[in-house]
Amino acid sequence: MTSTQVQEAAAGSLQFPAGFVWGAATAAYQVEGAVTEDGRRPSIWDTFSHTPGAIADGTSGDVAADLYHRYAEDVALMADIGLRAYRFSVAWPRIVPTGSGEVNQKGIDFYSRLVDALLERGITPLATLYHWDLPQQLQDAGGWANRDTAKRFAEYAAIVGGALGDRVATFSTLNEPWCSAFLGYGNGLHAPGLADPALALRAAHHLLLAHGRGVAALRNTIPASAQVSLTLNLFVVRGASASDGEAVRHVDGMANRIFLDPLMRGAYPADLLDDTRAITDWSFVRDGDLATIATPIDVLGVNFYSPSLVTAATADLATTATRRAHDSRDVEGPAPWPGSNLAYEVPQDGPYTAMRWRIDPGSLEQLLRRVHSDYPGVPLVITENGAAFDDVVDQSGAVHDAERIAYIDAHLRAVNAAIESGVDVRGYFVWTLLDNFEWAWGLAKRFGLVHVDYATLARTLKDSALWYRKVIAANRLPPR
Ligand code: FCB
Repeated sequence: MTSTQVQEAAAGSLQFPAGFVWGAATAAYQVEGAVTEDGRRPSIWDTFSHTPGAIADGTSGDVAADLYHRYAEDVALMADIGLRAYRFSVAWPRIVPTGSGEVNQKGIDFYSRLVDALLERGITPLATLYHWDLPQQLQDAGGWANRDTAKRFAEYAAIVGGALGDRVATFSTLNEPWCSAFLGYGNGLHAPGLADPALALRAAHHLLLAHGRGVAALRNTIPASAQVSLTLNLFVVRGASASDGEAVRHVDGMANRIFLDPLMRGAYPADLLDDTRAITDWSFVRDGDLATIATPIDVLGVNFYSPSLVTAATADLATTATRRAHDSRDVEGPAPWPGSNLAYEVPQDGPYTAMRWRIDPGSLEQLLRRVHSDYPGVPLVITENGAAFDDVVDQSGAVHDAERIAYIDAHLRAVNAAIESGVDVRGYFVWTLLDNFEWAWGLAKRFGLVHVDYATLARTLKDSALWYRKVIAANRLPPR
């Protein structure tokens, strides 16, 4: 270090490696709106968000942030913030509206225009193929519980790869298959709203199979220089008491190793298979599936928000708990871990974000070190991290979201510490660019760097966006 660097480090300013990728992320259904336009057909989230009681504030993604119409303005905002990369998702029901068969050229044209607009501004596009918007017709045939969906996904992946592969730097197959499987099929908090542990495990396997087949389909259609990835929401699991070691092991299996082991080691963990024997015989795993799933990827996306506290299931807990597991809508008591009858999630002390998710940046460093040591050899990118707070637009039109800045700053310090200890982290994407439709919570929870007024759809850069601009330009965190 030079003497200036030593002084800056002492003042709390932290440098990131040259070439570190600074970005922000969004997902199609959360921002696009225009749900009936240009040939798009319903996805499971259209159906679910219009189901009474499914969304906490009764809103839907029908309009959301209207990015479908305003993408040019939003790409200009990204350039204004200085983003080097933008992670977006492609809506399957825009590309193959009924999930199989006819391809919708207008859908392809939209993403093609978006990608071109990004490239014109020097912003690297990262495309996720599945951020939860399964075409409804595939759900009607069983959705992720049906093995055929993996085949349909591979067909769709090849279409997107062929259309955008010449311009998109990185393709990610799936975003957070844990949520798709365990919140979608395990406790019903997410679309399609089913609550059946056996279906959840089946769905998890078919999502992994879709990933593996999707990787092959992408490799066949994109140039060798383009990268293939997958994004997981990985958990830092702690026990509520010293005697909860078994619950921690079990939940780690159901949440982390169920995805990481087949991907990186080509096998499901033996303890997970044992733990779940009463739920399923795993006969949905066929010869060759695990080899397909373990096809190497170029980079692993990691999403992280908050750690988890768990305890072993007891009869006592079962009577007090609600099925709203993993969701802070019921913070008063423990809730069953999605898909499991062996463990419960326990509410944690603050500090909290507006989701009532505990803020604990040290957990992110711990997680990155763990992935690096247990599953070495694959570079990591933080594909989502950020926080919802109850933002207020003041009379001057500014949003002073100091808590969001503090959250992102602290988590970036954790990423920096992990890098310093030898973990290969290539980039960081704030969740999220724009306030948007936060799934089961609706529009009320604001995670954006940019405020969206849902009455006018006007955009306002929050203080966090202005702060992030400085971080990106300097490739370092300012002193705290
Ligand atoms: C993640 C999702 C993302 C967003 C954040 C808050 O689980 O991938 O779409 O909702 O949580």
